[in-house]
Amino acid sequence: MTQDDRRAATAKHWGLADYSGLARRLEPAADALVNAVAPKPGDRVLDVAAGTGNVAVRAVARGAQVTACDIAPRMVQLGRERTGPEVQWFEADVENLPLPDATLDVALSAFGLIFAPRPEVALAQLRRVLVPGGRLALTAWTADGCIAERARIVKEFVPPIQPLPTH
Ligand SMILES: C[S@@+](CC[C@H](N)C(=O)[O-])C[C@H]1O[C@@H](n2cnc3c(N)ncnc32)[C@H](O)[C@@H]1O
Repeated sequence: MTQDDRRAATAKHWGLADYSGLARRLEPAADALVNAVAPKPGDRVLDVAAGTGNVAVRAVARGAQVTACDIAPRMVQLGRERTGPEVQWFEADVENLPLPDATLDVALSAFGLIFAPRPEVALAQLRRVLVPGGRLALTAWTADGCIAERARIVKEFVPPIQPLPTH
């Protein structure tokens, strides 16, 4: 599978279901994430793998200048409808962000960055677009929680994914 195949499959997958119910259930995590980082008015904030914008709307409420990206066109569409023009949305794989170097103060991701198949590539991208001293914060599932348990069960029955090419 090439990177392009992987991107297309991921974008399609996340666009299939009605995501709104899950987004509502994840709102407490978005609250915790944004409260922990406390973006200041005027901070340039990116909501990474933003889904329908749970984090983006909270950063806007604090006066930040917010952009949001997601790999799935459907998520970007739903996010735009939710936030209106206060958030600049774009489609992007977190492993290949179409942003200039050193142009963000804060990057946030609620249960989004964790899906990057090559975390080191995604983190390098975020480091590139953050200004020196910029901040990155994310939420992730714990290794002993029910989501990790589900992943262990799936792994028992689904064949392993082929390793991706590194470039
Ligand atoms: C569990 S949802 C979380 C969405 C949102 N952050 C929230 O808190 O509701 C995961 C999101 O990650 C996006 N995603 C998955 N892989 C991605 C990638 N490589 N680059 C960008 N977005 C990605 C999906 O399209 C989906 O919207």
